[in-house]
Amino acid sequence: MTTTSTSRAPLADWVEPAAMQADPYPTYRRLLDSTPVAWVPALGRYLVTSAAACRAVEEDQETFSANVSGGAATLARALGAPPMLRKDDPEHADERRAVNPVLRPKTLRAQWEPVFARNARIHLEVLRELGPDEADLNRDYAGPVAAQNLIDLLGLKGAGVADMQRWSHAFIAGTGNLHDDPEIWRRCDAARSEVDALLDELIPHYRVHPDNTIISALVQGGLPLSDVAANVKLTISGGMNEPQHVVTGAVWALSRHPDQRDRVLADPALWPAVFEETVRWLSPIGMYPRETTRPVMLQGVPLPAGAPIGVVVAAANRDGAAFDRPDVFDIARPRQPHLAFGSGVHLCAGHWAARISIGEIAVPLLYAHLPGLRPDPRRAEAWHGWVFRGLTTLPVTWES
Ligand code: HEM
Repeated sequence: MTTTSTSRAPLADWVEPAAMQADPYPTYRRLLDSTPVAWVPALGRYLVTSAAACRAVEEDQETFSANVSGGAATLARALGAPPMLRKDDPEHADERRAVNPVLRPKTLRAQWEPVFARNARIHLEVLRELGPDEADLNRDYAGPVAAQNLIDLLGLKGAGVADMQRWSHAFIAGTGNLHDDPEIWRRCDAARSEVDALLDELIPHYRVHPDNTIISALVQGGLPLSDVAANVKLTISGGMNEPQHVVTGAVWALSRHPDQRDRVLADPALWPAVFEETVRWLSPIGMYPRETTRPVMLQGVPLPAGAPIGVVVAAANRDGAAFDRPDVFDIARPRQPHLAFGSGVHLCAGHWAARISIGEIAVPLLYAHLPGLRPDPRRAEAWHGWVFRGLTTLPVTWES
């Protein structure tokens, strides 16, 4: 690893985005072995990979702002206005405070656990009907369960699973559309219009009929309508794919570690450990952006003001300084904090919802009803991405 004369940060000019799309973990390992922070010309940003450096970024939002210049503008263009994710406190805190009560464990358990269980059971039946020669765990279970859970939790009455999937994919593509691809904007704008039309009906409803949904909480929080709408769209884009990827990731990981699968099947109290280890080992969000507001030294690496940063939590979750045998999937590892949900003020608002709906309900239900559940070796699986990463296809089979 050499050093550039302009930035003086270690230079990682060998990083290839195409290789990261296919499998980012070899790149993460090489970065982690050489420096906590590197300038990556191919990505036009500094990648922060060590767990200590990622945490240092999250602990200092005055220096490492979430209001990143290019990306924030693209996100605001995609969602209609900037959501909480691209604001710093105190503006961020006002919006975050509004949704927190819905997403606390107590409310989730009382109100949402039965809904998550119903949604999982409905789609388990779909999977069973397709049978062990046809079923795709991503397409037929993980995707629809995650979409329906989010529809219910948001309170998006009138939306269906296919709508949610179309909107979520369109917003995610728009959020990353830094090169202004017109077709991506066309789909994103169409999704925004559809969601806005639905919100025009729902917002007056939730004003007079408050309940424990996210839209109701945002409306009752007194936020301007543009902020309500932007945060609904943020949640549509951020609350579906990741839980979906944990369902397939957990089944994939357990199938490769049959001893650990047998242990959790014998002791269901281990399901939460399966969830935590899956999101550490196969982090669904690989990287998210920040920008420096002043020159700063980060873990010994100097960064200029206005530096575009990528906080690579998927790499930090494989940092040997934070985790013993970091590349090994081990549900028995001592409980220690990981970074799959980020940290600091932007710590994922939906982390308890994901833990309960996926870790405690959707994944255990599969094993309770599909004996011998495993990836089907006769049909190919597929992975995609590094900024967002997960299985896009996971054919499964079981003993019928
Ligand atoms: C396993 C599933 C999930 C993972 C791995 C995940 C990961 C993350 C991460 C890493 C962030 C921080 C991003 C940043 O700081 O730039 C985040 C933020 C957020 N997530 Fe999640 N998420 C998951 C599920 C959910 C769900 C189910 C919801 C909604 C119900 C949700 C809603 C949000 C929101 C609203 C934020 C913004 C928080 C803020 O800015 O204060 N997430 N998530």
